[in-house]
Amino acid sequence: MATSKILAISGSLRADSHNTRLLHAARTLDPGRQEIEIYEGLRDLPAYDQDLDTPEKRPAIVTDLRRRVLAADGLLIATPEFNYSIPGVLKNALDWLSTDWTKTEGLPLHRKPTAILGAAPTNFGSVRAQLALRQVFVWTESDVVVKPEVIVFRSHERFDAEGNLTDETTVGLLRGLLEALQGKIDAAPAR
Ligand SMILES: Cc1cc2nc3c(=O)[nH]c(=O)nc-3n(C[C@H](O)[C@H](O)[C@H](O)COP(=O)(O)O)c2cc1C
Repeated sequence: MATSKILAISGSLRADSHNTRLLHAARTLDPGRQEIEIYEGLRDLPAYDQDLDTPEKRPAIVTDLRRRVLAADGLLIATPEFNYSIPGVLKNALDWLSTDWTKTEGLPLHRKPTAILGAAPTNFGSVRAQLALRQVFVWTESDVVVKPEVIVFRSHERFDAEGNLTDETTVGLLRGLLEALQGKIDAAPAR
């Protein structure tokens, strides 16, 4: 069976981010079936500007991200919770990915199989941010996995000193999430 290409984006720029660690853990779970690439460019994306959002004027880093998303079979998005919502850097990236004003390129997020998860050291584990993220994907008509919900609360307790995911419950949830994402990818019409 062909390997599915999944682009993973962490909404946290922090070096020791628990959300980014979860994406690294996801890479190890089913490497034969899924090739998960972690996007590294979020910090450098310019602020969304509709005047620049054309094939000719878009900054190169945005064009590159849009191409990567269009080429990916699925997306895996890990979000922290900032002030009850998703971080601005993540929202900014999703804004750049949500458009096709000239109707010539395709909408990168449209119908894209997408799985979301999130971690926070609080007792709420990014649950409100994940709800906000789901709402973004309503407008973009992305094909978002509904369950399992991966809400990693008290996230600092789930990793060892080297940052490896050691909590078996979270490993199981992550595995379930990737399986559900794979189900959506397998059911998606050929691109
Ligand atoms: C600006 C800011 C706002 C935050 N707001 C919330 C919040 O509303 N709810 C919450 O549970 N945690 C909040 N936190 C704590 C984050 O959930 C915590 O920093 C989390 O670990 C970030 O994820 P990371 O480990 O991937 O960087 C906030 C942190 C920052 C820096």
